Amino acid sequence: MNKTFKRTLITSALPYANGPVHIGHLAGVYVPADIYARYLRLKGEEVLFIGGSDEHGVPIALKAKAEGLTPQEIVDRYHYIIKKSFEDFGITFDIYSRTSSAIHKETAAGFFRKLYDKGEFLEKTSEQYYDEEAGQFLADRYITGKCPHCGNEKAYGDQCEACGTSLSPLDLINPKSAVSGSVPVLRETKHWFLPLDKHEAWLKKWILEDHKEWKSNVYGQCKSWLDMGLQPRAVSRDLDWGVPVPIEGAAGKVLYVWFDAPVGYISNTIEYSPDDWEKWWKDPETKLIHFIGKDNIVFHCIVFPAMLKADGTYILPENVPANEFLNLEGDKISTSRNWAVWLHEYLENFPGKQDILRYVLTANAPETKDNDFTWKDFQARNNNELVAILGNFVNRAMVLTHKYFDGKIPAISELTDYDKETLAEFAHVKEEVENYLTVFRFRDALKEAMNLARIGNKYLADTEPWKTAKNDLARTATILNISMQITANLAIVFEPFLPFTSAKIKKLINQENLKWADLGSILLLENGHVLHTPELLFEKIDDEVIQEQVQKLEDTKKTNELKENKANPQRPNVSFDDFSKLDIRTGKVLECTKVPKADKLLQFKIDDGLGGRTILSGIAAHYKPEDLTGKNVCFIANLEPRKIKGIVSQGMILSAENADGSLSVIMPEKEVKPGSEVK
Ligand code: MF3
Ligand code: ZN
Repeated sequence: MNKTFKRTLITSALPYANGPVHIGHLAGVYVPADIYARYLRLKGEEVLFIGGSDEHGVPIALKAKAEGLTPQEIVDRYHYIIKKSFEDFGITFDIYSRTSSAIHKETAAGFFRKLYDKGEFLEKTSEQYYDEEAGQFLADRYITGKCPHCGNEKAYGDQCEACGTSLSPLDLINPKSAVSGSVPVLRETKHWFLPLDKHEAWLKKWILEDHKEWKSNVYGQCKSWLDMGLQPRAVSRDLDWGVPVPIEGAAGKVLYVWFDAPVGYISNTIEYSPDDWEKWWKDPETKLIHFIGKDNIVFHCIVFPAMLKADGTYILPENVPANEFLNLEGDKISTSRNWAVWLHEYLENFPGKQDILRYVLTANAPETKDNDFTWKDFQARNNNELVAILGNFVNRAMVLTHKYFDGKIPAISELTDYDKETLAEFAHVKEEVENYLTVFRFRDALKEAMNLARIGNKYLADTEPWKTAKNDLARTATILNISMQITANLAIVFEPFLPFTSAKIKKLINQENLKWADLGSILLLENGHVLHTPELLFEKIDDEVIQEQVQKLEDTKKTNELKENKANPQRPNVSFDDFSKLDIRTGKVLECTKVPKADKLLQFKIDDGLGGRTILSGIAAHYKPEDLTGKNVCFIANLEPRKIKGIVSQGMILSAENADGSLSVIMPEKEVKPGSEVK
């Protein structure tokens, strides 16, 4: 289909505000979306680029609970961190808002209400898991259990992260509540469903026939969903964090986060442009493009379009250029395992070097398959490409022009055949870059841009203007004029990809006013135009700097291994009442002796403030009796007495166990009276 459009609405997935953003976010969604937005703006097109934080959903509610905060406090913390990271990396959203805003809640509720009034939902009562201890229903990640497909014991109620299958809580084997750890029961509850089965026919035609041009990873995933047949999907949940379901008798129910979040694109448009937001969403001459990661494909290609269609007044996306995943040093990026390069940390370690990361993440973008980020590759691309090709060319052209012509653009006298060949090659660059950008092939587009710097480098190496300067300054003038025109072209072609570098080049060449349409021209810098002093665009990154980053990741790996294998996982919560049943006290060791014929046991006579008692403890391998005599210890006073080796032990002395199995007896930090309660 070759439709023409008047304007482009670009959306980028709203990241969950439950952690900072990392390189995977940038590579998958925000850098490509930003390249595209900048490119269209440079061409003078009408563009709106929408971003924002996704602030609802179970993971946020769970994180809040774990930290003893409210969900709003959690999203307030991360929203601003995320927003700042995007600003720092030059992601040029026209608006970056959030789904906990009043305008969003109103818009999302209104969207639901209209569909409800039109009879677009199914209302169904079904059985859902309920946690009787916590007194709440267990949606999505509130429930864990064994994955029926791969056996992973820690699958969630909405998805198994080990095998990627999407699940419903009822699919889980041995379900367990993530709130209390208890085994949930089934209880009836009413919900609203979007009958995707009713939308299947038009979706099939729209995607499988009318949008064959979509990226093959996207098209393929849609096809497999559509081939399996679509089912009604619940768009509400029994939760207390989210947009309340806006109808009577729906107390305690909120919109499913995947219903409200994409409406966030619309609310943010309304917030940005309250008077003419509709032209962005309802005019068929608007081209809507969703930038997302692969785990969002079904929501953006099937569910959200069905919602828009059910409303009936909205346009549908023209393309959904989803990326696959970026891994880090061979492992899946994970927020909870701290396996990531966080953007704010990167900037602490590499201040001012945003463009290196933008470059590496684009050159190595997971456009067609999962890709791996490694620090070695980061270093190599910086040193061998940015420094050696782009930086080197610009610097040589600048320095030579200063050396021979006082930093003023010299005039072309005569073009040789070789000059013409070079110019012909360079004339292609614009078209090539455009062709790739139009079809969302950002890696290839970047390669073409870099090719222009390669052409420049080769031209300087072949023509050797420092040699011609000895007897033919007019020839040197021609060569350097062409080289500086190429430099100006580099400022243009790199602007979407490396905006900070492009700005630096423009400053160096003292020419801010460059448009995309100028690309390919060799008349960008007039004869006599004055350049600024040369400065390096990039610098080499040393091995030690890279080694530090690698070491940081190795430390993370070690910490994780300790956590995951050695340490005991935390046990299920107990109530305060249960805790209070334990009577823990301090006591003074009056006597400590070895128990005959028992290697491990020490026998204690304790002053417990209650008349004294005997306790046996299996710590003989770790302490000599004399080490403990006279010390204050802690013990459980009301443990049922047990007879061991003929001796009655009246309680238990508390010790901490190290990772290597060694024991350390717990002692009060100050002198306390024997029998003091430990609480
Ligand atoms: N928060 C989701 C994620 O990170 C993306 C939401 S995209 C939207 O996977 F369309 F729902 F906004
Ligand atoms: Zn699984």
